[in-house]
Amino acid sequence: MVKTTLDPALLKPLDEPSLDRMGYERPRALLDATDEDLASLLDLVNRPVVSARQFDKAQLVQLCRVAARYETKRQNVSQPLTGRILVSAFYEPSTRTRLSFESAWHRLGGDMMSITDPSSTGIAKGESLFDVGEMLNAYGDLVVLRDSHESHVYEMMKALRIPIVNAGNGLDEHPTQAMADIYALLKWQPELAMSAPGCRVHIGVIGVPARMRTVRSLLIMLAQFAAGIAKVTVITDADAPFSEGQLAELLAAGLKVEVTDALDAVLPELDAVYINAIAWTGEGKGYEELGVRYRLSADSPLKPDAIVLHPLARGAELDVSLDDTPHNWYFAQARGAVFIRMALLSAILKTFS
Ligand code: CP
Repeated sequence: MVKTTLDPALLKPLDEPSLDRMGYERPRALLDATDEDLASLLDLVNRPVVSARQFDKAQLVQLCRVAARYETKRQNVSQPLTGRILVSAFYEPSTRTRLSFESAWHRLGGDMMSITDPSSTGIAKGESLFDVGEMLNAYGDLVVLRDSHESHVYEMMKALRIPIVNAGNGLDEHPTQAMADIYALLKWQPELAMSAPGCRVHIGVIGVPARMRTVRSLLIMLAQFAAGIAKVTVITDADAPFSEGQLAELLAAGLKVEVTDALDAVLPELDAVYINAIAWTGEGKGYEELGVRYRLSADSPLKPDAIVLHPLARGAELDVSLDDTPHNWYFAQARGAVFIRMALLSAILKTFS
């Protein structure tokens, strides 16, 4: 048996976290810097969400604005989803995406059914995703699906007459994670939301766009904000960092993209650094680690006011020594995921006001 010790310091009443470091003030700054125009969200009503490509800048800004409203009035949200049922189907491990979607749905007053293991469903007996989708039409009002296969969300969608949201499909996309990333960036730098931003930020992305769904969706959404982005530098040691046509698509969308393998050389120039080292493959141990030689810590040569983002779960690439520094925006990013998902669900089900 492991011997445990009771540390009295851990039992003291909890303090409020440091508000500015944790980003609570930032949603207010975003609300002050932008105007509400919910008309752009009407196009999302009753639609599936499978790709970051479905969203334009106006929609992303307004979703972030609705999220900021939720985040600043957390105890005062009406419950428009009362009586509605979410089918939360996670056929692959998840902490943040599943729990933040479920938290978002609960906070909006809805009920839910959760599947965390496909082997507990008819899929174990060879049932097709099309047939599962057909049943879900009768059982719920919206499906959130995570699956290790790129095509499965599309297969289920063919049978669905209720909206589905892609919560990560293999190596392909993770559009709502990218929304959480954009929400963090807009809270940090609200000027990015403007049509003619006064800022031109330099963003570093440590990761492999060809292999990481979070990075794939993020780059697509960053292209919508190209006017405020001086450059995106992808930091990778991969031989083929981009999939076919990926870089051309980003450049055509107006994003200036450079690639380097020299992290410490570029780090002092970056205003925001996004880092990820895991690509979910669903095979073998389930994931592969990429670019493991790239690590950030409190000793890294970051600009004093640079922010660090990470979709989490983290590994050795993101040292805990950064947690208590002003660079830590990754916890605020993960917390904001609840509110941006509330905003998206409200838009799809047309419950925002
Ligand atoms: N960011 C993210 O997708 O985390 P989870 O795998 O825990 O959902």
